[in-house]
Formats: sequence, structure tokens, C-alpha cells
Amino acid sequence: MRTILVTGGAGFIGSSFVRYMLGAHPEDKIVNLDALTYAGNLENLRDVEGNPNYVFEKGDIADAAFIKSLFEKYNFDVVVNFAAESHVDRSIEEPEIFIKTNVMGTQVLLDAAKKIWMTGKDEFGYPTYRDGVRYHQVSTDEVYGALGKTGMFTETTPLAPNSPYSASKASADMIVRAYGQTFKMPVTISRCSNNYGPYHFPEKLIPLMISNVVALKSLPVYGDGMQIRDWLHVKDHCSGIDAVLQKGKAGEVYNIGGNNEKANIEIVNLIIENVGEKLKSGKYPIDNDGSKVGKDLITYVEDRLGHDRRYAIDNTKITTELGWEPSYTFEEGIVETIEWYLNNQDWLKQVQSGDYQDYYERMYSKK
Ligand code: NAD
Ligand code: DAU
Repeated sequence: MRTILVTGGAGFIGSSFVRYMLGAHPEDKIVNLDALTYAGNLENLRDVEGNPNYVFEKGDIADAAFIKSLFEKYNFDVVVNFAAESHVDRSIEEPEIFIKTNVMGTQVLLDAAKKIWMTGKDEFGYPTYRDGVRYHQVSTDEVYGALGKTGMFTETTPLAPNSPYSASKASADMIVRAYGQTFKMPVTISRCSNNYGPYHFPEKLIPLMISNVVALKSLPVYGDGMQIRDWLHVKDHCSGIDAVLQKGKAGEVYNIGGNNEKANIEIVNLIIENVGEKLKSGKYPIDNDGSKVGKDLITYVEDRLGHDRRYAIDNTKITTELGWEPSYTFEEGIVETIEWYLNNQDWLKQVQSGDYQDYYERMYSKK
């Protein structure tokens, strides 16, 4: 039995990972640590509350004293660090918090793990660690910068982050690497492409566009809409991280991607078409008959500063060395995702109104 610390487990990918791990590894205990920022939503995990192998702790990964006490309380075997400020547009407006959480928070976690896992020193003076421990950093393909029309990111592509967000994630990766090199800590890093799926916060492209089509609001496409992202279903990202935890080698980086490059405008057009058809079917509890859904909702707006043109992940290493494969095609995953949003309008409304932020007080003040 492992005790696994999942940080940022109330967010989009973290909540999917908590659910995935409770299902795939019922022998393990999962401690979800989350600061519940605007992006953290315990409603995402309502279905696992009460599971005896699941515990929630509220706190900040950058708070060293709190993190030290948490490691002493649970004596974690594995740390999977999802906690981060994750939105590129917000990083352009307010970079400081990205440095605090994404960079300093990562160092605080590494330091706490090092101290609690150390068993002594080897003959060369390097720390030795308890068997079976692992620190895993959830990183992003954005650390590699932007691609032109051809080529793909491999694990050896030089880091060239362009936004404050990606610079903070690249900095965190470098600190993780340094703990691996200098202190011989068993660390791994995975770099994933754009995720999509249920519980995605509606500031990001796919949920924002679905939500705006339903509300018949304009669809803001940045620049010419020809930027390319490489989409992966969130559940496939989770199984990829699990593969790295089980079979990945300490000190290694693994790219995770599903070979699904799409231009933003293609995604927007697909959402317009699919949501429109579904609304016309009248099968969803939504006050919109689909008759006004069309491409005239698209508005081309000012481009994002420093907007990366194209991302594409070469996943050869994880598929050949660890035997991981994505299970979703984009075509099935996006339809399932659209359906999830149409059937979960209450979740969307709660997130958009900010009501979900009272959930912790309601649920946990009694405990
Ligand atoms: P998200 O914004 O949905 O969730 C982030 C979570 O971290 C939230 O629950 C938030 O409350 C929590 N958090 C923020 N600051 C914290 C702090 N100081 N202490 C504790 N918790 C804190 O993000 P996401 O899209 O789920 O991304 C999760 C991770 O995956 C991030 O590290 C991100 O960089 C990485 N990633 C995301 C994608 C993607 O497409 N979304 C792709 C590749 C990598
Ligand atoms: O590649 C992985 C990264 O993917 C993660 O590391 C980030 O955490 C995650 O947010 C995501 O970053 P992007 O910037 O690619 O995602 P976003 O959904 O913000 O934007 C996707 C593309 O759509 C991007 O080219 C910008 C464009 N866009 C986005 C929004 C919100 C629009 O054209 N209009 C919009 O309103």
C-alpha cells in the first residue's frame, strides 16, 4: 500500500487523476492537497467523498511549515505535483503568483520529500532514500516553446518557454532535475500536451466555446485561429502518469501526447456544429433549440501576446519504453466531452457564478 500525495487534486486534471487512481489502485491511499484557488473545485470529486482511501487537505504547496507538517503526518511514499496556476492568459496579466506557486511551491515539496525520505548517505556523500519513493512533476509541452509548420517536441528538445506560465513550469522542471542530479532523489517529469474532458474550467478554449455556444454568446478566437494544439483526453493523461509512476525510470522525462493536432478554428467549428445538432435534438435540459447556433457567433479578437503558433508531441518514448497508449480518439472524446457539458449545466453555472467556492465551507466546516 502506498500513501500518495496528489497536489492540485481539486483542479481539472488532478481531480481526474484522484478518481483514476482510486479506481486503478484500490490498495493505495490518496491524500489530495489543494489550496482551492478559483480553479480548485471540490464539487469535481463529490463522487469519491466518503471513499475510505481518500482524504482532502486544504493548504498551499508554497507554505513550507504546513508542507513539513503534512509530510510528517502522512509519511507519503509518492508525490504527484499537479498544483499550479495553469492559465497562460492569467500569467500575462499577473505573473507573480505563477512564480510563487509553480516555482517556489515545487521547491518546497521537493525539500519536504527529501528530508522525510532520506535514510542516510552513500560512500560519496549522496543522500540515500527509502525504497519505493518517487517525486513526480506534472509538466507541460509549453516548456519547449513553439514549433513552426513541421517537427515535434521530443524529450531532448531544448527548453524555450515563451509565456510567464511556461517559464514558471520550465523553472520548476529545472529544480526537479537539480534535486535528481545533486541529491540523487528519485524524480520523474512528464510533459503533456493540451488536455480536454469533463470538469475543465471554462476559461480554457474547449469548455469556454461549448459554454458560449449554449448561451449564444460570441466565440472569441484569438488572432487568425490557425494556432495548433495537440489534444489529449484527460483520462489518457492520467493513465500516462500512472505508467510513469509504475514503469518510468528515476531521473527521466516522458512526453505524453495522443497525436491529435488541430487548429483552434477547427475545434471551434466542430463545437458549433456538434453542439448545434445536439441542441436541435431537444434531448438536453437546456433552453436553446439550436436554431440560432452558427458560425456567425465567431468573433476574431486581438491575439494573445507571445502566442505560441504550434505544439506537437512526439510520444515515442512513453509508447515504446513504457507501453502506454492513449485510449480515446479525439473524435469520440470530444463528442463525449460536449455531451458531459450539456448534461452538467448545473456544474457549469456553479463554476461561472463562483458558488462552488462556498462548498468547502459548507462541507468541511462541520468536520
Ligand atoms: P487547474 O487550474 O484546473 O487546477 C490547478 C489546481 O491547483 C487547482 O485545484 C488549484 O486550486 C490548485 N492550486 C493552485 N495553487 C495552489 C497552491 N499554491 N497550493 C495548492 N494547490 C494549488 O489546472 P489543470 O489544467 O488541472 O493542470 C494541472 C497541472 O497539469 C498543472 O501543473 C499544469 O501545468 C499541468 N498541465 C496542464 C495541461 C492542460 O491542458 N490543462 C497540460 C499539461 C500540463
Ligand atoms: O499545452 C499544454 C497547456 O495547454 C497547459 O500547460 C496549460 O495549462 C493549458 O491551459 C493549455 O494552454 P493553452 O494556452 O494552449 O490553452 P487555452 O485553452 O488557454 O488555449 C488553447 C488555444 O486556444 C490557444 O491557442 C489560445 C486559443 N484561445 C483560447 C481561449 C481561452 C482562443 O482562441 N480563444 C479563447 O478564448
